[in-house]
Amino acid sequence: MCGIVGYIGSKSAGEVILDGLHRLEYRGYDSAGIAVVLNGKLEIRRSVGKLNQLNKVLESRPLKGSIGIGHTRWATHGRPCEENAHPHTDCKDKIVVVHNGIIENYLELKNKLISGGHRFKSETDTEIIVHLIEKHFSGNLLNATQKALSEVRGAYALGVICTDDPDHIIAARQDAPLIIGLGEDENFIASDIPALLPYTRKMIFLEEGDIAELRRNKVRIFDKKKKEVKRQVKNITWDRVQAEKGGFKHFMLKEIYEQPQAIRETFLGRLNPEKGVTYLKEEIKIADSFLKSMSKIYIVACGTSYHAGLVGKFLFENLSLIPAEVDIASEFRYRCPVLDRNALTIIISQSGETADTIAALRLAKKNKCNTLAICNVMGSTASREADNVLYTRCGPEIGVASTKAFTGQLTVLYLLALDWAIKRKTLTAKKRKEIIDNFWEVPSKVSEILKKDKEISSLAKEFTAKRDFLYLGRNLNYPIALEGALKLKEISYIHAEGYPAGEMKHGPIALIDEDMPVMVIATRSKIYEKVLSNIEEARARGGTIIALATEGDKEIKAKTEHQIYLPHLDELFSPLLNVIPMQLFAYYMAVFLGCDVDQPRNLAKSVTVE
Ligand code: M6R
Repeated sequence: MCGIVGYIGSKSAGEVILDGLHRLEYRGYDSAGIAVVLNGKLEIRRSVGKLNQLNKVLESRPLKGSIGIGHTRWATHGRPCEENAHPHTDCKDKIVVVHNGIIENYLELKNKLISGGHRFKSETDTEIIVHLIEKHFSGNLLNATQKALSEVRGAYALGVICTDDPDHIIAARQDAPLIIGLGEDENFIASDIPALLPYTRKMIFLEEGDIAELRRNKVRIFDKKKKEVKRQVKNITWDRVQAEKGGFKHFMLKEIYEQPQAIRETFLGRLNPEKGVTYLKEEIKIADSFLKSMSKIYIVACGTSYHAGLVGKFLFENLSLIPAEVDIASEFRYRCPVLDRNALTIIISQSGETADTIAALRLAKKNKCNTLAICNVMGSTASREADNVLYTRCGPEIGVASTKAFTGQLTVLYLLALDWAIKRKTLTAKKRKEIIDNFWEVPSKVSEILKKDKEISSLAKEFTAKRDFLYLGRNLNYPIALEGALKLKEISYIHAEGYPAGEMKHGPIALIDEDMPVMVIATRSKIYEKVLSNIEEARARGGTIIALATEGDKEIKAKTEHQIYLPHLDELFSPLLNVIPMQLFAYYMAVFLGCDVDQPRNLAKSVTVE
């Protein structure tokens, strides 16, 4: 998730863009840059780090010119450094592009462009776009961009300017947000509303596949069939804080809603549905020989990331047939784990800065164990110190309660388990294809679940007086029960315990009475019947059951008081779906109880002390 701003008018483009980028800094902040056209030449300023670094560059080398584009980056392809900072230029420094999104087929296109004589200056996927536009350019930037984008697969929001066809900005969107702001003799583009609020409240939200041409006094929009279209102009009444939260009341809710995009971006370019393969070898250098002979995987993490690790264990053991152990990072180094060269330690951390997790990583390295970090923050300590790193592409997570980072981590674990299953030949071609087809459907199924928001909020309202909850799940959904309980605890301060449903009869069942609601994950699975028996056991003790069930399940209706129905998808991917209603339930409980959802008491987003 990056931020884009573009301006054409009579003001100083550099100043307007910098101001807009500051308002989008919540979208990413590892590097930034601005390009303007001045007297037929491109002027570019870029810097690593937060926007105040770019401020300093602009103070010493100001930008003149009244047409330009700018970007604040949250790195996905390529580390945070000046060469990878946007904007990116073509070979002749005449065309310049800013981009938010992921180009899925960038490697294939990059190889073709290099054979065609194009020279690349960065490690980003974005740079292929500007070279493709250069390849098709013959005087008309709009046509060249349309042709370039017809070769691209993936997600993008783009701003493009060119010295040889000046006086306009080309903007395009596909699966990444982009808006146009309409002014008096000036126009704007931006990734999000807050960037433009001081300048205009008249905004157009581009639709998927749209390409727009912005002049000072005119905006034309073309749909994916290249037909000129009219899009509705909306009058935005939000204040700045409302706008940063995308109109949501809290960052947590916004981040829950961002999950379809975060999951999609995390697997785009890494998974090929047609070929049934993954492309992780481009990002992680783990020899096939090591993968084949690996003795064990240790997964180490804290909190929500630990819960993702528990699902990871299931995936590595079931798909790739590799034994796996999961450890809470603060315990790992005190139990003397048997680490050696034949084992792999995977540490999972949204921030990449959690002290206990970093200590575990260092212990593994000291014992010559191969290490891999799954992180969301590029350039974080864990990502720098691990032998290999695989990023989730969720964008900054601001709410203290982790939501989109969790589903991003799960997505990476599915990718790894699948990749290693393919390399270790533990899946048939048919099964592999089936898994990838299901994987591809996850974002749209998550979107379907988000439509149940109101239903879940009404349900939460009925339970605000309860002080204790039991969350039950089995098999690969046991970690989801733990995660559901953690969400409720940390933001609503209600005591909640996650338990394996089958273990309940060995103790916790004593707690169940009419004051202890039981949330049960009872979606269709191989052990569905067993979960039904666990429900019966809880009901017999007076427990009120809230069941997560698969659409069309009539049996569960007769056995439980409340049901949240979820769309069907292969059981393997159920953790990615089942966690969503639990996040929403915890969120609404906290809202109804008047808690500080984004900054719950006693907690910090990143725990950097042991
Ligand atoms: O940044 P990390 O993933 O290493 O953070 C780990 C935990 O501190 C974190 O998941 C914490 O449990 C969250 N508050 C959960 O919502």
